[in-house]
Parts: sequence; C-alpha cells; structure tokens
Amino acid sequence: MSGLKPVTVPDVRAAKGQTPLVMVTAYDAPTARIADDAGVDLILVGDSVAMVVLGYDDTLQVTIEDMAHHTAAVARTHPRALVVGDLPWMSYHQGANDAVGNAAKLIRAGAKSVKLEGGAKRVPVIGAIVDAEIPVMGHLGLTPQSVHALGGFKVQGRTAEAARLLIADARALVEAGVFAIVLECVPDDVATLVTEAVPVPTIGIGAGSTCDGQVLVMHDLLGLEDRVTPRFVRRYAEMKSDGVEAVARYAADVRARTFPGPNEGYRLPGDAAEELGLYGGSGHASMSA
Ligand code: KIV
Repeated sequence: MSGLKPVTVPDVRAAKGQTPLVMVTAYDAPTARIADDAGVDLILVGDSVAMVVLGYDDTLQVTIEDMAHHTAAVARTHPRALVVGDLPWMSYHQGANDAVGNAAKLIRAGAKSVKLEGGAKRVPVIGAIVDAEIPVMGHLGLTPQSVHALGGFKVQGRTAEAARLLIADARALVEAGVFAIVLECVPDDVATLVTEAVPVPTIGIGAGSTCDGQVLVMHDLLGLEDRVTPRFVRRYAEMKSDGVEAVARYAADVRARTFPGPNEGYRLPGDAAEELGLYGGSGHASMSA
C-alpha cells in the first residue's frame, strides 16, 4: 500500500486479496519511526511489549495504562501507518462497558483502531466497541493472553474440528464488524481456508504466505530479542549482538582513556584559560563550540 497519505481502516479493508499488507509492532517513538520510515502499512502497539520490552514472561502483566503509555509514544511520531492499539488481558473481559471505556483510552492515546483476542465469545464486546465508532481488529489461533488455558504457546487449529472452529470464529468476528483478523500460529492450509472464508484481510504470523498480510514483532525481526526465535521469525538484522559489540568497544575505550577524544568535549575560551593560568592562554575552542 504505497503513497504518502495516512493509511486508513477502509484502505486496510480494501487490501483484501491485493498486495500483502505489512504490519510490525512498535512500542515507542524510535521503533515507530523505524517502522514508518520503512513504509509499513500498520503499526501494532502490541501487548508483546510485556515480553520484549518490559521483561515479563508473558503478556498478562501489562495494563490498559501501560498500553496507553506506549500507544501515545508511538502516536506522537504521527506515522503514516495505521496505529492499532492492543487491548491487554482483562481490559475487555468484564463486560462491554468496560471494554468500550478501555478501547477509548487507546484511541485517546492516539491509536486509530484496537485489537483484541478471541473468537465467537467476543462478539458482544466487539459489537459494542464498533458501535462506539472504534474499528476493531480480531486475533485468532494462538492467542497469547490465553497461554494458561491453551497450556503454553502452541500451534492451534491442528485437527479438522479445530480448523472448522477457527473458520466459524473468523466468520463470527466478521459479523461483529472487525476490519481485519490476525491469525497466529496455525497451519498454512488452515490459514488459507480462513482467508478464503472471510471478506476482510487476514494478517498472519506463523500462518503461511497465503494470508492477506504479515505481522512480526519488531524486536524479533531486528534481532534485538535473541533469547527465543520461533520458527516463523525471519531476522533481518542482528541488533542485539551489534549492540553488545558496540557497548563493549565503548567500555574498552573508556578504560583505555581513548574516549572522549580531544574533539569530543569542550575547552575554555583563551581569555578564561589565561586567567586561570591554563595552557598558556592560547588557541582553544570555546565552551559553546
Ligand atoms: O502483541 C503482539 O505483538 C501481537 C502480534 C504477535 C500479533 O499480538
């Protein structure tokens, strides 16, 4: 989806079956600028922030306030990409009013749409958020907020019955009004069946190449997160090891007193140096240089 105009929800809907949509996560201003300068279509302020930025073991620890804080940092960069704010665990599980209020917090923080996890049982909540004029993206398959119920981060939809259920869930989400659906960690063939069954774009992560788009976690694709690499991640940079190497070189320079060098600091103006009896009072750059 090339161009200079901001990407809108109708643009995303219209991308069904066209050039694949590109979505990536971002959680702060620098990662949002990387994403937007690279020309992605959607930026997801994902609750994966819990794991890749805040150091938690799962996504269940972040609150709506945490998500609003990170969404605001992304939105302040005014990206062209559509900003999707992720509703965290327990922000839409206690009734429609609560869910609408929490979705509004992300919109007021600068998101243009929200994402939530789950199938048919989320229909009333999705309907209420959509009724409040807030566009909703669905999320099916491996839904990390259900990690304990699912028994771990496992591939979903691996039986014919589970695949049929996924298709039914996707149709229910569409009926409720979602504008796109993330499909996470499902067999490629199942993702194809879901993609063919719904009129809105599917955006895959670990769901094969037939989805209408792809999403990756920024820290995975940049190699900033290198502790676990799921099979569906392709690393396009090695920023963790590059960063370790850079900081180690800095540490060595500090210890050898080769950093800072003569041009990496400030000198007294000549007259002040002279008054203090320094350098014979000659030829040094001023403090403001
Ligand atoms: O929070 C997140 O990063 C996500 C993506 C994995 C889709 O939900």
